[in-house]
Amino acid sequence: MGSGIAQVSAQAGYRTIVREIDDSTVAAGIGRIESFLAAGVERGKLSAADRDRTLANLSGTSRLEDLADCDLIIEAIVEHVGAKREVFETLEGVVGPETVFASNTSSLCITELAATTRRPERFIGLHFFSPVPIMKLVEVIRGLATSDETFENVFAFGRSVGKDPVTAPDRPGFIANRLLIPYLLDAVRAYEEGLGTIEDIDKTMSLGCGYPMGPFTLLDFVGLDTTCYIAGIMYDEFKDPRYAPPPLLKRMVLAGRHGRKTGRGFYTY
Ligand code: CAA
Repeated sequence: MGSGIAQVSAQAGYRTIVREIDDSTVAAGIGRIESFLAAGVERGKLSAADRDRTLANLSGTSRLEDLADCDLIIEAIVEHVGAKREVFETLEGVVGPETVFASNTSSLCITELAATTRRPERFIGLHFFSPVPIMKLVEVIRGLATSDETFENVFAFGRSVGKDPVTAPDRPGFIANRLLIPYLLDAVRAYEEGLGTIEDIDKTMSLGCGYPMGPFTLLDFVGLDTTCYIAGIMYDEFKDPRYAPPPLLKRMVLAGRHGRKTGRGFYTY
């Protein structure tokens, strides 16, 4: 997701710094952007000059200190409050007081993350969708202390990178995952109950209902671990069985079948 967010930002003309944990991960991220842009030129979606302008706006680093002059920092690290807190704490010592922090979290509480910083009024949720350069939506989530100015600036930033933003509440899953996660979990439960084969359930929803991907293809695309994690957070908050990860999903995660990224999920890649 990080590379997709960096790409749309650089493509919109912002000088964009990608910070990753080490140099090889930085190179892999920039490489993903280069491949996506090259494929876009081949498909006639952008010109070679646009590709070159985008790449000229991008640079990579493994040092948080290199973000010192940024106006906006979009965090897209692992979905773990502790890890995110650590990054924001370090950033507090690096950037000036005007810098806005945004989190691309898909499930964690924005108000809680904001409270780990010294700038809760300049903290906001900015949740993108995969694949970021293609999906048009971004959810903008205000924490309890987010200022109007931060909200307006970040909403405008979302528009400026080619997205059509919506305002979502600071509740687990925001809008999209509040509706998407129960649907995906239901598909797993239905499969466990013998409703149909994985292929037939997928085919039914894509060919019959016009979804671009059936639920199992989408689960593999999003990641079974990510889905299970988001569902767990939603279940913790709402205590509603609709959000409880089904036993099969949990076991597939435990077995390391996380979807496309591990080569195996409901399908094999
Ligand atoms: N550069 C520029 N444009 C490109 C491109 C590139 N490298 N690659 C593809 N595109 C464009 C294509 O030209 C095409 O555009 P047009 O419709 O204007 O022709 C469009 O992107 C789709 O590309 P494809 O035809 O190659 O691919 P597809 O039709 O198989 O669609 C997909 C791929 C967009 C991923 C589609 O399957 C889809 O929408 N899947 C569902 C994705 C989804 O639900 N994402 C959200 C997941 S949830 C999430 O992310 C949040 C969370 O918290 C879990």
